[in-house]
Order: sequence, then structure tokens, then C-alpha cells
Amino acid sequence: MRQVLYVFLDLSTKPSVYYFQKGVSLLPRNHPRTRITSTVSTPLSDKLSIISDVIELPKSELIDEALELLVQKYKDRVITSGSKGASIFMAKTLAFCSHKGGVGKTTSTACFADLLSKRGYHVLLIDTDSQGNLSKRFGYPPQQHFEKTLTQLVDDILSDEPHPVTDFVCATQNKSIDIIPCDDRYAEGVKHMLSAVMLGINAYKLIVHELSTHYDFIIFDTKPAVDDDVKQVMLATQWVMIPTDAADDSIDGARNTLKFIKAIRRGNPDLAVAGAFFNAVNMRTSVAHDYVPQIREAWGPLMFEPIIPYSQDAKKAEGYHAPVSEKYPNGKITRNFSKLVEEVLNRIG
Ligand SMILES: Nc1ncnc2c1ncn2[C@@H]1O[C@H](COP(=O)(O)OP(=O)(O)O)[C@@H](O)[C@H]1O
Ligand SMILES: [Mg+2]
Repeated sequence: MRQVLYVFLDLSTKPSVYYFQKGVSLLPRNHPRTRITSTVSTPLSDKLSIISDVIELPKSELIDEALELLVQKYKDRVITSGSKGASIFMAKTLAFCSHKGGVGKTTSTACFADLLSKRGYHVLLIDTDSQGNLSKRFGYPPQQHFEKTLTQLVDDILSDEPHPVTDFVCATQNKSIDIIPCDDRYAEGVKHMLSAVMLGINAYKLIVHELSTHYDFIIFDTKPAVDDDVKQVMLATQWVMIPTDAADDSIDGARNTLKFIKAIRRGNPDLAVAGAFFNAVNMRTSVAHDYVPQIREAWGPLMFEPIIPYSQDAKKAEGYHAPVSEKYPNGKITRNFSKLVEEVLNRIG
């Protein structure tokens, strides 16, 4: 279910040889669950030879010590280690995206985080929408202009002495969910984010890179757009979830979104659509009866089965600044979101 980072140190310098000594299954480099961080390249191997001569320690022992340091650093996340390698949990990255506003990106992001936490997962939320609606659901109302937000993080990245990204992570009332909040200052802050991109730094990628081993899931909530900012999110995530309603425009929406994602994939070959799902649909209406099958056809197998119904619980929970699944754990919305989470985990696990 969890993405696994295989750290391995291969002294053979033959890129085709991928192995672990102790019973860890062999996965090729391009397997979706494989992330290789440390392959000893020939120049590095040469450097290690020099160090090994100087400190009079065989090269293999040097490698083992380096590996041991990594294992110690990430010890709460190491699932197995041997003298040639260790496997470490990596967060799955997921972004809720849609060109259209009001289709349930924020509601779904909040619910997913809450339901994943109830399944024992640790989740980091990144609110990239300057409206700050997600931040509000998790105790950081945007009006309060908190000290640590995405805007400060981006400015810090551009400063002379940047701090670790962890300095900008905020706790929520749910111990299993952290958040990097956002507020209206990011409407301007996003320009700095794009300046950083010009310097070759994608702040979202940096967050994922630095925090991947701390969480099971890193989830982005995005604004209703397909602008340069959302593109940067798409370059930093592996999976995209697309909420949709059941109306005529949603058919075009499906086609446009898929086209957009196909274009972005050139810059991020890992990017994949986890799937689309219906939100806020009232199956008692004739509109829903007409459009649900047509939209299912447009998405094909990418459309998830569960339909999140229209329910006032969503708006009521919004009033309590809480995820709907937390406020109404037995409501129909929560039951269907739970089924959806199950399907998503099966698909991306
Ligand atoms: N299943 C639902 N039933 C009824 N209202 C919903 C549902 N999902 C979302 N809403 C409401 O619709 C509005 C837009 O939802 P939101 O999640 O903020 O969309 P987005 O983030 O895509 O703009 C909010 O007021 C939210 O409470
Ligand atoms: Mg939103």
C-alpha cells in the first residue's frame, strides 16, 4: 500500500544490477514502487576508494557505515535493511485538481486526509489556494495571516539562508495530519514561487523531496485553474484526483483535463491520473440520470465507482471549519468517501 524508497548502494557500478542481499523482492528501476536514491556511480566509487585508502577502511565497510547512518536517520520508516540496502517508506503524492471551481476539491482533500488518518496513515496537506479554505478546515483561518504559510516558505527558499522545509509545517488538532497553510498573501507570493521556478527551484517538489520520508501521503489542494502554479503542483505530484459534477460542461472538462495532464507528463513522466469521481450529485434528478453515464463514458475506466451525494452536511461541516467526515462520520457523504478512499488505495497502492 505504501510507496517504498529503496536506498541501495551498489558497488558494482553496473547500472543493470539491482539487488538486495536479504530477501527483498527485486524491482526494476522503472517499477512505480522503485525510487533509487543512492547508486554508487563510477566517479563516486573512485572517491570512495580514495577515502577508504586515507582512513584505512575497506570500501565496502565505508558503504555499510553510510547506509547505517541513513537507516538511523529514517529509523522509524525503515522496513528492512541488509548489508547492501534498506527500504524506507516514501509518501505517495496526490493532488486534487480541476479547472472548475466549486466541484469539491477542498471538501474532498479534507475528507481524504481525515479518512486516511483514521486508517492509520500520516498525512501532510499543502494548501496552494490563496483562498485558504483548506487551511480554515484545519485550524488556520486565512484571515489570521499566520507566521508559517506557503508564502513564507517560498520567500525563505529564495533567501540567502533558507531554513529546512519542516520549519513551515504546522500541526493540526488531528495528530496524524500536518498542514502547510495558505492565505491571500499567496496571491502575490505565487509570483515569488514562479521566480524560484526561473531559478530551477520548484517549491512544491522541494517540499515533497524534503518531507517524503516523514509521511505516508502528501496531498495538495489546488485552486480552480490550469495556470503555471497548478502546473508546478503537477510537476511535483505523482497522482491526480479530479472531482467532477454531473452536467454538460463536465464532459468537455474531462477531455480538457486529460489533454492538460498529457502535456504536463512531458515534464513529469511519473504523473498519472488516479481517477475522477462524481461529487455533489443528486441521483434523484433527471440531469444526474442523463449526465452520469455520459461523463462515465468520457472518463472510461478512470472514473471511480462511488458517487459522493449532494448533502447539506458538506456546507454544515464547512461552517464548523471541519472535514465533513469528521463532523458527520456516519453520514452518506462519509460512507461514500470511505468507499472512494478504498478504491483509490487499491488503484495507487
Ligand atoms: N457533496 C457535496 N454536497 C453538497 N455541497 C458540497 C459537496 N461537496 C462540496 N460542497 C460544497 O460546495 C462548495 C464548493 O466546494 P469546495 O470543496 O470548496 O470546492 P472547490 O475546492 O473545488 O472550489 C462548498 O460550499 C462545499 O461545502
Ligand atoms: Mg477549493
